[in-house]
Amino acid sequence: MPNRLFRPDFYDRLFNWYDMHHRDLPWRDTKDPYIIWVSEIILQQTRVAQGLDYFKRFVSRFPDIQALAEAQEDEVLRYWQGLGYYSRARNLHETARVICKQHEGIFPSEHGDIRKLKGIGDYTAAAIASFAWDQPYAVLDGNVHRVLSRLFSIPEPIDSAKGKRIFKELAQEILDTRQPGLYNQAIMELGALQCVPANPACPDCPLSGFCSAYLYNKVQDFPVKQKKAKTVDRYLNYFQILSNHHTWIRKRTGKDIWNGLYEFPLIETNEAAGIETLLTSEELGQWLGDGTAGKAIEKSIRLVIPEIKHVLTHQIIHASFYQIFVEEPGHLSDHFLMIKEEELGNYAFSRLTEKFLERANP
Ligand code: ADE
Repeated sequence: MPNRLFRPDFYDRLFNWYDMHHRDLPWRDTKDPYIIWVSEIILQQTRVAQGLDYFKRFVSRFPDIQALAEAQEDEVLRYWQGLGYYSRARNLHETARVICKQHEGIFPSEHGDIRKLKGIGDYTAAAIASFAWDQPYAVLDGNVHRVLSRLFSIPEPIDSAKGKRIFKELAQEILDTRQPGLYNQAIMELGALQCVPANPACPDCPLSGFCSAYLYNKVQDFPVKQKKAKTVDRYLNYFQILSNHHTWIRKRTGKDIWNGLYEFPLIETNEAAGIETLLTSEELGQWLGDGTAGKAIEKSIRLVIPEIKHVLTHQIIHASFYQIFVEEPGHLSDHFLMIKEEELGNYAFSRLTEKFLERANP
C-alpha cells in the first residue's frame, strides 16, 4: 500500500493508540448499517456526549428501518427535537421509506448505492460502507480534515473547491485498505481526542513523528479556512395566545428554517420591534379581534422573553415571546391549529420555542 507516508509504523502507532484510548460507544459495537447510519446523522448535529442520549432514544423507538418507515413524520421530528437541522430527520425518515419500497427493506450494501440515497453525502456513505462492510472509502469530516491538514501542512483552505479536492484525494491515499473501518474510526477518534482544535498535547500524540506542522511548530496554523459566510439578522416576535386553556400553533412549511416544525403565531419584522409597534400591526389586530389590539388587552400581555439571541449557521435570530390571555380570540385563520395547552408536548417545536415553553411554565 504505497502512499506518501512510506512508513508502515504510521498505522501501527495509530491503531495502538486507538486500542488504548478510544471511547466505548454503542454504534461501534455493531455492523448494522441502519444503526450506523442513524448514529452518523445524529453526530453530524451534535457532540458525542449529547448525541448519545438522542441516539439511544431514537433507536429504542425506531430499532430498524421498518419501524422508522412506518412512523409518522411528526413523531420522528419529536425524537429529533432540540438537535436542529430537521431536514436531516426528514431525510432519514423518507430514505427509510424508500429503502422499504425499493430495496425490500434491506439497506443497500454497495457504496455507490448508499451514496445515491437522499440525505447521505460522501462522508456518511464512506462511514456506513467502511464500518458495516469494510469497504475502502475514506471518511472526511472536520476531525479528519484537521488531522490531515496538520500532518501534511496543507496550505489550501479546507472549504475551498481546490482544498476539497486535495483533501479528498489525500484521505483516500492514506486510508488503510486492509482495514478501512478500523482506520476510519481511529483517525476520527484521534481528531476528536488528541489532535483537538486548540492546544493539542502534541508530545503525547502517537503521530507526532509524522506531523509536518508539529515539526515546524505551526500546529495552530492548521487547518486553513476561508473567510466565514455572512450571517443575516432576523427579528421574530412570537405570540402565544391563550384562551380558556387553549392555544394556537401552526406548522412551518417551505424552504425556510424549521420546516415541518410547529410554532406560535409569528410576526417577523425588519428590526427589533417593541410591543407598542406590534400592537398596531394588522395581524395581531386580527388574531385578537378587531379593535382589541389596543389598550383593552394591554393588561393581559405577558412578555416572557424580551429578546433572546439564537444563533443558527447563517442566521442570527432575535426572538421575543409574548403570552396574551384573551376571553375570546379574534380571527385565527385555518392555518392555525387550536389545541389544548396540555397537548403542546405532542408537537415538535424548534429549540428556541422549547426554551420559551420551559421559561413560561417553570
Ligand atoms: N463522530 C462522527 N462519527 C463518529 C463515530 N462513528 N464515532 C465517534 N464520533 C463520531
